Amino acid sequence: MDTEAAVLGLESSCDETAAAVLRADGTILAEAVLSQEKEHSPYGGVVPEIAARAHLEHLPRLVAQVMEKAGLEFSQLAGIAATSGPGLIGGLIVGSTLGKGIALAHGLPFVAVNHLEAHALTATLPGVVETPVRFPYLLLLLSGGHCQCVAVEGVGRYRRLGTTLDDAVGEAFDKAAKLLGLPWPGGPALERLAKAGNPARIPLPRPLLGRPGCDFSWSGLKTAVAHAVARCPGGAPSDQDKADIAAAFQAAVAAVLADRAKHALAMLPEATAMVVAGGVAANQAVRGALSAAAAKRGLPLVAPPIRLCTDNAVMVAWAGVERLRLGLTDELGHAPRPRWPLEGLAA
Ligand code: KG4
Ligand code: ZN
Repeated sequence: MDTEAAVLGLESSCDETAAAVLRADGTILAEAVLSQEKEHSPYGGVVPEIAARAHLEHLPRLVAQVMEKAGLEFSQLAGIAATSGPGLIGGLIVGSTLGKGIALAHGLPFVAVNHLEAHALTATLPGVVETPVRFPYLLLLLSGGHCQCVAVEGVGRYRRLGTTLDDAVGEAFDKAAKLLGLPWPGGPALERLAKAGNPARIPLPRPLLGRPGCDFSWSGLKTAVAHAVARCPGGAPSDQDKADIAAAFQAAVAAVLADRAKHALAMLPEATAMVVAGGVAANQAVRGALSAAAAKRGLPLVAPPIRLCTDNAVMVAWAGVERLRLGLTDELGHAPRPRWPLEGLAA
């Protein structure tokens, strides 16, 4: 594909509505992300029907906006890439149908992008990280919906090394935060609160620490937070109690993640780097622990900038570019898939 060719990417699998225009050489011509935090926060989590309606309301406008900023007509694009799974089916239908409509109207190739693949390939986008990563690398996908260790061996070549047995790690942050009376999404608020806390005063369990493999389990830790809160005098933790519990929770998560990452690296001895993606990658304690675990193996911890770690359309467009390069396009009849494991992607 010509390096000047541009791809329009669409993301609507969860609660971020996003569009971006990316050149095949990795230059971001335009990007826009609209978070639905305000719509969902009264409910303490993402409400699928509200998310789908918000995507429908905002995505067409974001597309017009990024096309104008990029200074391109649809007919000048090399292709349309839309997240087509995994995720909430309503949002997936909105984004992929819009993408197919544009592709059909302008005779463009359509790429049905797997959202996990988009996260996985972000670190290979030129200019995103200081030293570009080479295959194979270990990806830790740590978000509100996903918690996986993935061997990224090439475009379309992924092996899941470990996954969560219950909650995603971002979900665990959100639930612990809720128990501490913090607003949703809880991760950032919990991290702020933890700064004032003593992680050693109220020790919490570290699920699966030291166990073989690199699976995760967070529900026991969440229950332990509930018990710690209930044990406070009158079941009402003081501000200091809350900060101490937040600090202990964050320390437990960071320690477990580092341990699981260590095991994952042992399962992928050829890894050239440890890459993190997902909203939880914004957490400084988590980054510090992972970076130390990677350094022990002489590897760098590579973290794309936060706006590209969380859900965005640049990563979707980039996955589209990589697939178009390999001649991998999808039929307009391609059905979005709420569940779509990475292993099913063989290029
Ligand atoms: O990747 P993301 O924006 O959306 C998806 O879930 O796909 O991740 C959001 C998750 C939420 O659970 C949020 O609480 C968590 O990432 N998060 C954090 C931090 N910032 C966001 N968790 C811990 N510390 C943070 N600083
Ligand atoms: Zn995501």
